[in-house]
Amino acid sequence: MSAALLNGKELAAKKREAMKKEVSALIEGGTTPGLAVILVGDNQASQTYVRSKQKSCEQIGIHSVLIKLPEETTEATLLTEIDRLNEDPTIDGILVQLPLPPQIQERAVIEKITPSKDVDGFHPINIGKMMTKDKTFLPCTPYGIVEMLKEADITIGGKHVVVIGRSNIVGKPVGQLLLNEDATVTYCHSRTNDLATFTKQADILIVAIGKAKFIKASDVKEGAVVIDVGMNREDGKLCGDVDFEEVKEVASHLTPVPGGVGPMTITMLLENTIQSAKDRT
Ligand code: GUN
Repeated sequence: MSAALLNGKELAAKKREAMKKEVSALIEGGTTPGLAVILVGDNQASQTYVRSKQKSCEQIGIHSVLIKLPEETTEATLLTEIDRLNEDPTIDGILVQLPLPPQIQERAVIEKITPSKDVDGFHPINIGKMMTKDKTFLPCTPYGIVEMLKEADITIGGKHVVVIGRSNIVGKPVGQLLLNEDATVTYCHSRTNDLATFTKQADILIVAIGKAKFIKASDVKEGAVVIDVGMNREDGKLCGDVDFEEVKEVASHLTPVPGGVGPMTITMLLENTIQSAKDRT
């Protein structure tokens, strides 16, 4: 068997074309969606992500503002900056790129962003709303994964979803979103004993552990859908948490890296920012 590819790049491009029109209409009506991105310090990966977010905003007509702060910025300075953006009527979304330098408490920062501008969907109020299925901003990577499954007409209800990884950004929320879609969800993580016992039961396997080519064909049930959230560098080449060459022979559907989940994350950030702008009109 050779798995069908779940092409996130293509779906992202299709969604962004539609967004471009939506943003034009909003601007004509007098509302320009605005996103502020705060980058503290000079983490290389963060700089790349932030540049990509800005470029994507420009491409579809969202006004974007980058606030670069030095590595030694205090928590108080960052919180004051967030407060200013909370009050700024031209800004619909605020994103503080993670990770932050050690002197700054991530939690204090996330909680400072007003929930109605929290386009990352990380604020505890928005996480709570996600759990109760109230309308809110959904975390971008999990939201993008659900959109990819739906686009490929993959049934979620009743399926056994196994999530490997329990981060607040991906693992926990993707399991919750799929539970909201009536899946049966199992969470696995670095402390799970006999991981393969669980992964082999998955109808849909979501892998977000940050270990290059960790999931092998022998870990996957024949015909499973495999979503690879990994973004690792091996010999200078980007690769996922799934051994693509092996797993494509057993999975029914598989996301490539690059070109799978990655392009959907920023796309859903754009979607959340547009939604926020619409909510203020
Ligand atoms: N760092 C890695 N992923 C993300 C994300 O989705 N949002 C923010 N703010 N920081 C990140």
